Amino acid sequence: MILMLVFTLLAVLPVWIFWRNPYFLGDLRYFTTVIKIGIRMAKIRKRFSSLLDCFLEHVKKHPHKSFVVFEDSSYSYIQADRESSKVARALQTHAHLKEGDTVALFLGNQPHFIWVWLGLAKLGCVASLLNTNIRSKSLLHCFSCCGATVLITAAELRGAVEEVLPALREQGVRVFVLSESCDVESIESLSDKIQQASDQPLSLQLRANVNLKSPALYIYTSGTTGLPKAAVVNHERVWLASFLGLIAGLHSDDVLYVYLPLYHTAGILMGLGGAIERGCTVVLRRKFSVSNFWDDCRKYNVTVIQYIGEIMRYLCNTPKRDNDKDHKVRLALGNGIRADTWTDFLERFGNIQICEFYGATESNIMFVSYIGKVGAIGRENFLHKLRNPYALIKYDLETEEPLRDSRGFCIKVPAGETGLLVGRIGATAPFGGYLKNEQQTEKKLRDVFVKGDLYFNSGDLLRVDNQGFVYFQDRIGDTFRWKGENVATTEVADHLLTVDFVEEANVYGVKVPGHEGRIGMAALTLKENMSFDGKRLHQHVKNYLPSYARPRFIRIQDALAVTGTFKQLKAKLAEEGFNPDIIQDPLFFLEDNKGYVPMSKDIFSSISEGTLKL
Ligand SMILES: *[C@@H]1O[C@H](CO)[C@@H](O)[C@H](O)[C@H]1NC(C)=O
Ligand SMILES: *[C@@H]1O[C@H](CO)[C@@H](O)[C@H](O)[C@H]1NC(C)=O
Repeated sequence: MILMLVFTLLAVLPVWIFWRNPYFLGDLRYFTTVIKIGIRMAKIRKRFSSLLDCFLEHVKKHPHKSFVVFEDSSYSYIQADRESSKVARALQTHAHLKEGDTVALFLGNQPHFIWVWLGLAKLGCVASLLNTNIRSKSLLHCFSCCGATVLITAAELRGAVEEVLPALREQGVRVFVLSESCDVESIESLSDKIQQASDQPLSLQLRANVNLKSPALYIYTSGTTGLPKAAVVNHERVWLASFLGLIAGLHSDDVLYVYLPLYHTAGILMGLGGAIERGCTVVLRRKFSVSNFWDDCRKYNVTVIQYIGEIMRYLCNTPKRDNDKDHKVRLALGNGIRADTWTDFLERFGNIQICEFYGATESNIMFVSYIGKVGAIGRENFLHKLRNPYALIKYDLETEEPLRDSRGFCIKVPAGETGLLVGRIGATAPFGGYLKNEQQTEKKLRDVFVKGDLYFNSGDLLRVDNQGFVYFQDRIGDTFRWKGENVATTEVADHLLTVDFVEEANVYGVKVPGHEGRIGMAALTLKENMSFDGKRLHQHVKNYLPSYARPRFIRIQDALAVTGTFKQLKAKLAEEGFNPDIIQDPLFFLEDNKGYVPMSKDIFSSISEGTLKL
């Protein structure tokens, strides 16, 4: 009798669990992984080892396994180890580097980026990763703010360095270029010195004082305004970011395709770092190429791809091909995919698990969508909340400040509602912070729930549904107000993208004299061989968008301005406004009852003078 009861219970239990939580297995797998990582981190805390040490263990375990594949060359783990030792020795001899020194890397994606990074780690040095698109004042700013005394660049970027050479020389900076020789005074060649150096392992003594809290990297985050800021990435953060691959299900026999710039977190830590942590093979590409993407995946037997923001949409926008599903890719790891693209992508390219994550280089909160629920960026769970206390709080779009109650504290939003994500700054969830930026006020919130507490302000509006799935709603700044209504730029852009001649859309709000808030404007690129049809666009926005959300101005561009990680730039466009005297691109104005007409000086002056009602 009792036995019967036990059997019945055992049979019913799984049913009950699944009824309570259909995602139980996924959650369980996630918990186990997180606990495993917790144990690993505890060991690392007790006896420090860096990601470099992890790499060296893989070198010992499988020296001849392919580590980096680049164009037509392949480098094994042991080759990479030797190459990086040579770089370290060359820099030790010729740049007199020692533990704790900072070296700026101004390099595009290429194997030497990795050898230099590992080489610097062997010397206990910090690598400051400069964005290869920046020039002149911005380049100098980024270089100067990290306190580097040495700059390493590639032959193809030498011109950009020469532009700022006088200023660098004034600061006594040593500049090395990855070429055999160099005829410019005060730029030294490095490749010849690397070739002559010994490939013998370097003494651990050279980096004996490096610990979990020592800076490992400086990574620049491009804010919407002002010059880039250097986020300090210490060894603890390097580890945590590298574990993302493990959480996503990366195996040691995977082949990971890395085409995102290595100077950003996604490329170097989640991509390369994750691959090093697992000991897998990396296919490195100079830059993203939509036409070569799948051919590369087939050629190199890629099993895991990374993505960011718009890239999945670029891929879905290519003409369909018969071999779309002919590849070995099983997992895509990244962030910023929209729900509709997610569905399109799966339909088009087959059964690929999409592991969306959320987090920023300097942030202290991270979500991973380990279940693969379309549209979700992550899942709430108590383990996560225990370690990283975070909250969604009410936010006032008008004042662009969190709402406060009568006692001056922030207010949590009820489940299902959108709120601003803030994460408590504490020992287990530190804020990385920026270099040489003491106040960092814009990212910190004080007195959130009790007097004196301190939170990281993510600047992102999120929503959690009643099953615990987390959805990204908006980035502050991606929403503007017009006529007292909120306009979500991504939502408007999604509608514009369904118009047949629109290739890409970037929606933002511009200021108009004499008006509160901002009026909608969209920068568009057109599909090949298609022209702008103001009447059709007008019909479309009239059918699908409320009047306050319809873009009043349209700007046609050849290419949309994006950051190195393909995020759209809005602030600059918003500042440029809609003055036809300043903007060279074709401009259109939505005239009531007429549709989009070419913008003229007359229209502009009547808007400025307030005679034309908006
Ligand atoms: C890819 O896999 C196929 C079949 O397993 C194999 O024949 C081929 O050599 C592999 N290519 C590479 C570049 O590893
Ligand atoms: C656009 O037009 C050119 C010239 O007529 C043609 O070669 C090209 O294939 C067209 N492109 C598309 C996408 O139709």
